[in-house]
Amino acid sequence: MTREKFSTRIGILLALAGSAIGLGNLWKFPYEVGSNGGGTFILFYILIMIFLCIPVMIAEIVVGRYTHKNIIHSFIEISGKRSWGFIGVIGFSAAFTIMAFYSVVGGWTIEYLWNSIIGTFNGFDVPQLEQYFNEFHKNAERPVIMTFFFMAISTLIVMLGIVKGIERMSKIFMPLLLFFIIILACESLFSSGDNDGLEFLFTFNPDYFNSKTLLEALGQAFFSLSLGMGVLVTYGSYMKKRENIVKMAFSVAALDLFFALMAAIAIIPTLFSFGISPEEGKGMAFIVFPSVLQKIGGSQFLMIIFFSVFLLAAITSSISILEVVVSFITDKFAINRKKATVIIVLIAFMLSIVCSLSFGKFSNLTLFGENIFGIFDYIASNILLPLGGICTSLFVGWRFNKEVVKQELSNDNSIKLYGFKLLLFALRYIAPIGITIILLQSIGLF
Ligand code: TRP
Repeated sequence: MTREKFSTRIGILLALAGSAIGLGNLWKFPYEVGSNGGGTFILFYILIMIFLCIPVMIAEIVVGRYTHKNIIHSFIEISGKRSWGFIGVIGFSAAFTIMAFYSVVGGWTIEYLWNSIIGTFNGFDVPQLEQYFNEFHKNAERPVIMTFFFMAISTLIVMLGIVKGIERMSKIFMPLLLFFIIILACESLFSSGDNDGLEFLFTFNPDYFNSKTLLEALGQAFFSLSLGMGVLVTYGSYMKKRENIVKMAFSVAALDLFFALMAAIAIIPTLFSFGISPEEGKGMAFIVFPSVLQKIGGSQFLMIIFFSVFLLAAITSSISILEVVVSFITDKFAINRKKATVIIVLIAFMLSIVCSLSFGKFSNLTLFGENIFGIFDYIASNILLPLGGICTSLFVGWRFNKEVVKQELSNDNSIKLYGFKLLLFALRYIAPIGITIILLQSIGLF
């Protein structure tokens, strides 16, 4: 059976951007920036993106597009050894861990969309929004039901396949998303009045110049670019041979960074103008975004559109995580896409329930001060994804025949390839060593 391929170039770009841009940008980035010293974090983030992430992105896509196989079989095929499949296994574990907590937040966005539609938030001020969020996400049933809906939508899209499901959704929703985030950022810039927030975002604060900030930035960059668990290997495997991989990687990274900055600009200055601490954390987007929207004139319509878009951003990302597992299961076992998707989502849903309850019923189950949700996030973003990144860069840097990599990146010499030596150097040394140091330092071993 021939493997399905993305049908258009813009479709691939938007699907990749759709995977990258999501809750990581709209919800996680602003609070990471807020709790890690603003400008310092952003500086680290950009440096890490250029020197560590883009090379790993390119490496992942090359593996996928060269073999047109899933995350486990692609590594096995290139190396000729079964043992290299372990890189895929890391990706697999990360996929389930991320799906579990990501879907919970996805569920929150559905709750907010629904309440915008029925007008619950009309006239709410920040303390009221804060109270609403706190009561809602600690509840035992409602968030779980919403998580279920979120997973059901992702399931339906993935069932439809690459072109009809993933590509089509991305083409419709990504442009909308871009349009709205720009409106929100502009609104925040023009209305928040004081510039403390902006100053916080764009000035370097030496107090945060440390390994914790560096690790958080690394984890966030990997998470935001959907790196280290084989999303790009998987999407790469659905790419036609004529696409320019290097250009694609740079475009996706640029779009993703742009989005993250826009989200931070939309949230942080407003936060400052209300006197809320930028370390507010996980509820930030759910408390501050609605209040920004209220200020635009309390337009309920805008709020509905905004939360739809928030939800869609989450969905285009969630489908990419799911697709990694579906792609492997359908290749490996003789079951069809629909069945495979349902089975995988059911397993992930069990984990999601635990994550959701960790804000309420299970909130006393903690490790290093983090609840189960936080632990899942930490393990995936700060351990599994960087580990996957190290292995992928070493694999492509050392194990993959470099002439073949060159052929693949230049589409058999039909496009000009710049900086190949630099890329190879980054994959062989800079990325693996850099990521390892940051990882070891964070667990106190270095
Ligand atoms: N990058 C997405 C976001 O920013 C989340 C995501 C999708 C992801 N696929 C992933 C994160 C794979 C890590 C690995 O919201």
